[in-house]
Parts: sequence; structure tokens; C-alpha cells
Amino acid sequence: MRVGVLTGGGDCPGLNAVIRAIVRKGVQEYGYEFTGFRDGWHGPLEGDSVPLDIPAVRGILPRGGTILGSSRTNPLKAENGVRRVKENLAKYEVDALVAIGGEDTLGVATALSDEYGVPCVGVPKTIDNDLAATDYTFGFDTAVNIATEAIDRLHTTAESHMRVLVVEVMGRHAGWIALHSGLAGGANAILIPEQRFDLDQVCAWVESRFKIRYAPIVVVAEGAMPKDGDMVLKDQTLDSFGHVRLSGVGEWLAKEIERRTGKEARTTVLGHVQRGGTPSAFDRWLATRFGLHAIDAVRDQDWGKMVALRGTEIVRVPLRDATTQLKTVDPRLYTEAGVFFG
Ligand code: F6P
Repeated sequence: MRVGVLTGGGDCPGLNAVIRAIVRKGVQEYGYEFTGFRDGWHGPLEGDSVPLDIPAVRGILPRGGTILGSSRTNPLKAENGVRRVKENLAKYEVDALVAIGGEDTLGVATALSDEYGVPCVGVPKTIDNDLAATDYTFGFDTAVNIATEAIDRLHTTAESHMRVLVVEVMGRHAGWIALHSGLAGGANAILIPEQRFDLDQVCAWVESRFKIRYAPIVVVAEGAMPKDGDMVLKDQTLDSFGHVRLSGVGEWLAKEIERRTGKEARTTVLGHVQRGGTPSAFDRWLATRFGLHAIDAVRDQDWGKMVALRGTEIVRVPLRDATTQLKTVDPRLYTEAGVFFG
């Protein structure tokens, strides 16, 4: 048995831990051989591969990024994409594919598996934590820790200058990073895409914070939108899955707060810092367990499945369940956090 492995979409801490677990268990316990495909779906599409064996995965557990590289290539949009993927799998004598990715990468794996008979198993990754059918994706915990540390640091500088600090975090159309880091960092307002925000209300929270001589920190998710108006975007470019590049709301919000309240406001956009560097212990644990269970799914020829976390158990769910709908923040969780606003 030869198994292909790829990592697609935005990278995140923990990808290497999954690859290591898949290869270690696959070689040691099942005698499998592996082919690493470079740069997500670009690898099987173009026949771009790297050798993947136990020496190749030594020492990579704590390393951020992915030794296989990543991209947002969509083979379903490429000319004869499915045919080319199948031909390359046959050329490399790959019997099964493990795709490690988020909504887009796993969406391709779903189509290849369910519609074109390519034997695929999925592993959910993304800092955004927006994949349905799993309680958590790896990468999210690390991103939340990085954002929380940034908020802690911004509190002290905001206090020294008595100014507003707006922190823009990633998360695409889900507010998980904003909610978790905002709560952990004691933000005075958390704005998420799931709930349009009222600028008057945000300014009132800011003012009330100054009244008690504290400087406000506003955490805003990159996909958050004002009640009256559209998403604020710096850039309209679409990727090959049709997504716009988010970011810009933080700058816009600071200007509006400054204009309306007369208080000085600055923005910090955390950006890719949230995705870089070594994974947290939780993400190493989760990623490793996902890898171990993914190779078991391959052994069982349980195609079209994704490994998922339910409580503390790793289970298998249909890939389709994870990719047809986004997991967004439950309004009750957001309401709960409201105690600390203002
Ligand atoms: O999906 C992960 C993510 O980091 C999002 O939070 C963000 O919107 C996007 O990827 C950024 O993508 P890129 O790396 O292409 O700028």
C-alpha cells in the first residue's frame, strides 16, 4: 500500500505533527509506503512529489508550517483537473490519499471521493475553527494563544497612553478566534462576523471604559461587519475557491471611533503571526491523534471520511458533513461574553 499525503489551504501550526503521526504509524504498524505531494492539490495535479519516510519526519513535531508546502490550488477548476489527479496517482502508484486541510481542501477531497471514486481520507485543520463536524481543528488553539498574548501586551501600552487599541484578528467568516482571544485577553468589545455591530454601541463601550480611567481594547474579527454598511475590504482579489482576501475593518474601525469619540485610536492587525511558529501543546496533541486515526481509516479503507474530535474522542464522520456548512459562533456564546463589554 502506498499512501499520498498533502496539506492544502492556509498553513497552520500542527500540520507537521499530523504528517509525522501518519508516517510513523503507517510505516511502523502497517508497513505502508508514502508519497508526499507538494503544495496542496498542486502536487497531485502536476505530479509534484517528495519522498516521505520516517527520516523525513524526524524532528518536525514542534515545527510550524508544513514540510510539504501548501497552496490554494483547486484541481476542480483546472482543465482536466480530475483526470490529471487520477493519472498522477496512478503514475506514483498511490492507492489512497490523506488530505489535510480546511473547508476548501477537504471540499475537493469530498468531490474526488464521492463523485470520482478517488480513495480519500480527510484531516481537519484551520486556525479559523470553522469546520463543522469537529469540536476543534488544530491550529486554532495556537492562534488563540498568540492573539491573547498580543492583547495582554496591548493593554499595557494602551493604558500608558490612554488610547483605544483595536486588534484585528483572522478567522474569515467565523468569529472563533476573536471570541476566544477577546474573552481570554479581557477585551472591552469583541466584534464577530456572525453578529453585525452597531458603531454607536461600540463608541458607547469605549467612552464608558475611559470614564473609569481604563483604556479600551476592541477585538474585531477580519470578517466583522457594521450594522449599516458592507464588509470593509482592502483588496477584492479572489482566490481559486472564490474567496476574497479579508482585512481592513480594524483600520476603518479605529478611524470611526476616533472621529466619533475624539479619543485617539490605533490598530494592530495580527495577520499571519497567528499562523506561524510552533504549535501549542494542545495542537500537537490533537494533530498527532488526528494523524494516528487518519492512517487507521486508510487501513480500514473507510474512504470519504474525516477524523474529528468529539469531546475527547476521535471519531470518523463523512467528509461531506464537514464541508457543506461552516461552523460559526453560537449566538448564546456571544451573548455570554457581553457581560465584559464596555
Ligand atoms: O483560513 C485561514 C486564514 O488564515 C484566514 O483566517 C484568513 O482570512 C486567510 O487564511 C488568509 O489567507 P492568506 O494566507 O491567503 O492571506
